[in-house]
Amino acid sequence: MQYSQLISSMEESATLGIAKKVRALKAEGRDIIGLTLGEPDFDTPEHIREAAKQALDKGFTHYPPVTGYPALREAIVAKLKRDNGLDYAADQIVVSTGAKQSLYNVVLAMLNPGDHAILIAPYWVSYRAMLHLAQAEVTEIETDIAAAYKVTPEQLEAAIKPNTRLLFLNTPSNPTGSMYSREELEALVEVLERHPQVYVISDEIYEYITFGMEHVSLGTLGNMFDRTITVNGFSKGFAMTGWRLGYIAAPREIAKLTEKLQGQSTSGANAFAQQGAIAAMTGGMESVNAMRDEFLKRRDMLFADLKAIEGLEVILPDGAFYFYPDLKNFLGKTTPAGQKLTDINELCLYLIEEEGLALVPGAAFGTKSHVRLSYAYSEQELKEAAKRLGSGLGKLS
Ligand SMILES: Cc1ncc(COP(=O)(O)O)c(C=O)c1O
Repeated sequence: MQYSQLISSMEESATLGIAKKVRALKAEGRDIIGLTLGEPDFDTPEHIREAAKQALDKGFTHYPPVTGYPALREAIVAKLKRDNGLDYAADQIVVSTGAKQSLYNVVLAMLNPGDHAILIAPYWVSYRAMLHLAQAEVTEIETDIAAAYKVTPEQLEAAIKPNTRLLFLNTPSNPTGSMYSREELEALVEVLERHPQVYVISDEIYEYITFGMEHVSLGTLGNMFDRTITVNGFSKGFAMTGWRLGYIAAPREIAKLTEKLQGQSTSGANAFAQQGAIAAMTGGMESVNAMRDEFLKRRDMLFADLKAIEGLEVILPDGAFYFYPDLKNFLGKTTPAGQKLTDINELCLYLIEEEGLALVPGAAFGTKSHVRLSYAYSEQELKEAAKRLGSGLGKLS
């Protein structure tokens, strides 16, 4: 049997793959700490859970409208106005089974095989897989620690081609935690305004997890509104990963196409989960802010511990809940058992074997010498993880 070449050649999600390995090793009884997961370690706030429970009893157990319940789409419109200064109408909102599905919908709705898309490396793992499925041509722009892993206008200009259709922008970023300032975004918009064929996916899923820096939505700048697909969801800010709910706010033609695709695939997002999401959009932000404050405490604590590891290069992120240290000074070194570590995957395997510490290798995010550490873990786990990382790296010669 010849199976699909497109799916066979697609990369597995590295973050989910490592999480699977951590579970397997733990099941064998090994003492493993894995700072691998991209999900808040908090429970969904109570008012949201209550709304979903009541929705079940109220009969929200039937097929939902494909694009989401009108009340939820209206609540999202109000939220985008209130928090982001964006003026969308309800028919521009499409609710999906997670922002991940929203992104797949947009990519499949917008691209033809051979269309060109631009990723800014490091980028979130799944962008690449989506573009693979759409058979797009991809350019990865490399950024570095000195630029806080952000793209410059010159780099962007140089990457754009006549057939460029999509740019992926993610602020705050997974995996780096970096955020673009208003001025930085305006400088990128100046470039984009010269290239009207380029649309931008603005992935703002970490917008509520920011530590003092203003979150700016690309769609508010210059004439970008009509060329921006704003992607957001409930997973990160509201600790609702398992609910599988996300949405786009987009130009109407794109919203329509994603509606058609979704109507032929999932038929829409879970009915009673959407009622919880309405409570999330319309309720108070106290619990969201409390989670953010907890992340901030952990960020500062872990940053101090990471800075103390000699040879490790790291910057203080402005948002999300990740560190993305550069371990280039350790590649090429030798383990106590005499193994030379030639790439970041080998280094990560060594840390699991030697120290029981699981991190996500940066190869998954399009860079060669980094690891991603999530700090959506308890302070105790973070302390222990930093200790193991320092110990494992310290043993290399
Ligand atoms: C940058 C980014 N975008 C989108 C998603 C997808 O989120 P979800 O499908 O849970 O809404 C994630 C989740 O890890 C992410 O990190």
